[in-house]
Amino acid sequence: MALVTSTEMFKKAYEGGYAVGAFNVNNMEIIQGIVDAAKIEKAPIILQVSAGARKYASPIYLRKLVEAAVEDTGLDIVLHLDHGDSFEICKDCIDGGFTSVMIDGSKLPLEENIALTKKVVDYAHAKGVVVEAELGKLAGVEDAVKVNTKDATYTDPQEAVRFVKETGVDSLAIAIGTSHGAYKFKGEPSLDFDRLETITNLLPNFPLVLHGSSSVPREFVDFCNQYGGKVPGAQGVPEEMLKRASKLGVCKINIDTDLRLAMTGSVRKVLSEHPEEFDPRKYLGPAREAIKNMVQHKIKDVLGCSDKR
Ligand code: G3H
Ligand code: 13P
Ligand code: ZN
Repeated sequence: MALVTSTEMFKKAYEGGYAVGAFNVNNMEIIQGIVDAAKIEKAPIILQVSAGARKYASPIYLRKLVEAAVEDTGLDIVLHLDHGDSFEICKDCIDGGFTSVMIDGSKLPLEENIALTKKVVDYAHAKGVVVEAELGKLAGVEDAVKVNTKDATYTDPQEAVRFVKETGVDSLAIAIGTSHGAYKFKGEPSLDFDRLETITNLLPNFPLVLHGSSSVPREFVDFCNQYGGKVPGAQGVPEEMLKRASKLGVCKINIDTDLRLAMTGSVRKVLSEHPEEFDPRKYLGPAREAIKNMVQHKIKDVLGCSDKR
């Protein structure tokens, strides 16, 4: 049991044709729900902390809570920085005990993204920490309907090869049609599997990452709204597509929005059925259980990583 890097996890995932779930964490109940699920399913697990989560909780709290989860569960856990946007935040996390960082230079011109990523890789590798980078832009719904958007924003396979070679990065997040949040597609969901296969063929045995991979099940949204929520209709990535991607070199699948919906739906239910309640444990306890159930479902039925620990 320890905080570990993702190197071995990704090697096994690649060979086994499954993906490891990377779930965003913001507080104790979310961490406990996720690791409970991983423990029951005997699954590898990545807990990721965004810059916003670090700011919300203050950096030391989430790290200490994840360390507590390692000690409490006996699991090997990857502690990962999600969407680091500068060398400084990556350095801070590396120095502070993270085992994996993402440097997200995807908004920069290619040369600048390469230079920034390489700087982070050099620093991280010297300290035994692994690095994820991103190439291509995760289009929002509005971008996705524009003609020629794919070539302008999706990951270019040849650039991906050059990027990996020149940076020495350990994994790469690619853009093939997913996007962050609850509203990912206007109309039919579609991912560019041809592009994914081309990248996988050009970069054999190299772990790819899919961001924006919540499925936003209709039932989650309806459940929230049944108890007073006003979450508008949403459209996520169908689970079948995630299963397919995990057999094509995608070793890490990022999920946050589905956690948010599961947690919020549960809190709404308790407070609407028991309006007299004001003990936070009475609504955060069930919320933790809702997170556990959702993560268990992802591990078992979508990612295929049960019993892969
Ligand atoms: O990709 C972003 C994650 O969903 C984290 O979101 O920056 O609001 O914590 P956040
Ligand atoms: P979702 O918004 O689809 O959950 O994506 C989360 C993510 O990519 C975190 O980096
Ligand atoms: Zn992301």
